Amino acid sequence: MKIVVIGGTGRIGSNVVRRLVAQGHDPVPASPDTGVDTITGEGLADVMMGADVVVDVANAPVWDDDAVLKFFTTSTRNVLAAERDAGVGHHLAVSIVGADRLPDSGYLRAKVAQEAGIEAGSVPYTILRSTQFLEFLAQTVESGAEGDSVRLSPGLMALVAADDVAATVTELALSAPVGGRVELGGPEALGIDAWARRLFAATGDQRTVVSDPHALYFGTELKGGELTPGDGARVGTIDFDVWFASQPQRVAR
Ligand SMILES: NC(=O)c1ccc[n+]([C@@H]2O[C@H](COP(=O)([O-])OP(=O)(O)OC[C@H]3O[C@@H](n4cnc5c(N)ncnc54)[C@H](OP(=O)(O)O)[C@@H]3O)[C@@H](O)[C@H]2O)c1
Repeated sequence: MKIVVIGGTGRIGSNVVRRLVAQGHDPVPASPDTGVDTITGEGLADVMMGADVVVDVANAPVWDDDAVLKFFTTSTRNVLAAERDAGVGHHLAVSIVGADRLPDSGYLRAKVAQEAGIEAGSVPYTILRSTQFLEFLAQTVESGAEGDSVRLSPGLMALVAADDVAATVTELALSAPVGGRVELGGPEALGIDAWARRLFAATGDQRTVVSDPHALYFGTELKGGELTPGDGARVGTIDFDVWFASQPQRVAR
């Protein structure tokens, strides 16, 4: 099968491309690096020719509220139009668990708008709503940095390894469109503050973690379990310890 992977040079996309090649398929990574730009439309019509499935795992280069909303709505509109013209039979995109439960976050509002564009379109689709990636834990922790401490929300996150996300995307891309959403989370849900303590214990980081229910996550307060998947969600197999052991050597700051 020819499978176009929009964002196929990124974290999830390149992993999906590798997996599809290993299974004997013909994935085509599509991103500005490969001459395909979903915002300007450059290269889109050509890359869609003969495609059976399109996986969209592009991400916005800039994350302020207006820019990220414009990126996901424009990109999704252009990709879906090119798919329609080429007769593509399955559009699969990765969104975020609980995106619609946190309207104060500009990034999550943009993901909801992306989903709405897909749901309103005519191309058969699957939306995989994933929880936050373990690979983003360090960045999330640094967003709360204040000198010798980090101030973080005790709101729950069920972090999942990008490898588990890529495996699920690959499986879904090779299956019939669901016509709805599938959820995926990691094997363990902890407060963001507790994740930071676990990361610091593993890296030897001596900073203090301050638990603060008012600390913001992506521009929004968390009340509790908004970011955790519901019943029936798929559960990744890679836990923190296994994931950490697979990472390049990490040192305390
Ligand atoms: N981070 C999380 O915790 C999380 C959780 C759930 C869902 N997600 C979603 O997962 C998806 C994949 O995330 P990721 O971390 O794998 O992203 P990433 O590593 O930042 O990769 C982004 C990809 O998008 C491409 N791209 C950027 N602008 C483009 C454009 N105009 N046209 C075509 N491609 C473009 C990039 O291409 P270049 O390399 O050529 O610039 C790159 O291949 C995103 O949609 C994100 O919202 C993330």
